[in-house]
Amino acid sequence: MTPPLSIRPGSTSSALASVERDLLTAAIASLETDTLVVITDETVWNLHGRHLKIPSTRKRILWISPPGEAGKSYENYRACAEHILSAGIHRKAHILAFGGGAVTDFAGFVAATLLRGLPWSAVPTTLLAMVDASIGGKTGINSEHGKNLVGAFHFPKNVWIDSRYLKTLSRDQVLSGRGEILKYCLLDERIYDKVAAGDPLETVIAACAAYKQRIVKRDPYEAGARKLLNLGHTYGHALEKSFGLPHGIAVAAGIRLIIEHSRGTATLLAEYHDLLDVLELESALDLFATPFPASQAERILSFIGKDKKLSSAEDIDLVLVKKVGKPQIRSTPIRELRDVVSRFSARGRGSRA
Ligand SMILES: NC(=O)c1ccc[n+]([C@@H]2O[C@H](COP(=O)([O-])OP(=O)(O)OC[C@H]3O[C@@H](n4cnc5c(N)ncnc54)[C@H](O)[C@@H]3O)[C@@H](O)[C@H]2O)c1
Repeated sequence: MTPPLSIRPGSTSSALASVERDLLTAAIASLETDTLVVITDETVWNLHGRHLKIPSTRKRILWISPPGEAGKSYENYRACAEHILSAGIHRKAHILAFGGGAVTDFAGFVAATLLRGLPWSAVPTTLLAMVDASIGGKTGINSEHGKNLVGAFHFPKNVWIDSRYLKTLSRDQVLSGRGEILKYCLLDERIYDKVAAGDPLETVIAACAAYKQRIVKRDPYEAGARKLLNLGHTYGHALEKSFGLPHGIAVAAGIRLIIEHSRGTATLLAEYHDLLDVLELESALDLFATPFPASQAERILSFIGKDKKLSSAEDIDLVLVKKVGKPQIRSTPIRELRDVVSRFSARGRGSRA
């Protein structure tokens, strides 16, 4: 039986654990509370709800959100909060997030805000949530002005990872998680080596989750090192919105632009292509097959202009990488991003994939 993969050191980080289901049941039973509030979504609950065993000695309150971003709405927040409050809770009630990143973001935000803060734990069920979203205490819901604009830092007590939930994921969801794994490969040489060597997915998940956990411990509120985790995301988010791509594919494509921006070596570009191959993310390059039309390039740039990582009207904190394992954060003039995008557009030199 796999020993629990638990994240628990200190208040800003949680116990990270890789668990099998009976161990998960034991871990849930060990929580010091008489009231468990399970927050999940319809899809996850229908597929996996029966595996989540809550001890009969505990009061259980259940909230099932609509799947995906619809769960991160004001309406769902209000309905969920009122449901939980009407069922009766106290400061030691424990929130259990059971789902993908949308659920862990939402449940964490409910935990951050009800009774001015309740303890919470996460059981991530998507690859993206296992390696990224459930770790690090960024919680939130969406505003009509953008994603995650209403939120709080509120660190989970535990993150329990069971990779068997991944078996029911769609292909797009798997690729989305792999795009984040590609990001970790460029951030950390040891993760690169594991992925390049074809190590089992469980090992790779544990390495990515532990890497994020270490960075968050060093810099919980994103004053410095935590910004490294945004590698590929400024370009990635803009490509995601402009081309309607799954998040992870867009991040993988965004990293291609970052390599260009960083003037990464030919070796780095070759390693990037190898990773796309191993992670089956080659479709990230489809959008570079023909130059972006000028209107598309403008669209990408307008999304970049709205990025949350803008440190002023002119500059943006960008994570550059010239070599695997050596990322650097640099305040970067927007005009540099404009130059890079134009190199991939019809006005520039054309296809650079
Ligand atoms: N807080 C953070 O640090 C952080 C980091 C990255 C992303 N995020 C957030 O995470 C969200 C994206 O996460 P996600 O990709 O996990 O999306 P998601 O939670 O929306 O899940 C995607 C879809 O997969 C379904 N699903 C979940 N688990 C499943 C399973 N085991 N089998 C089958 N279907 C399953 C869900 O019902 C949903 O329809 C976004 O809202 C993003 O803002 C947060």
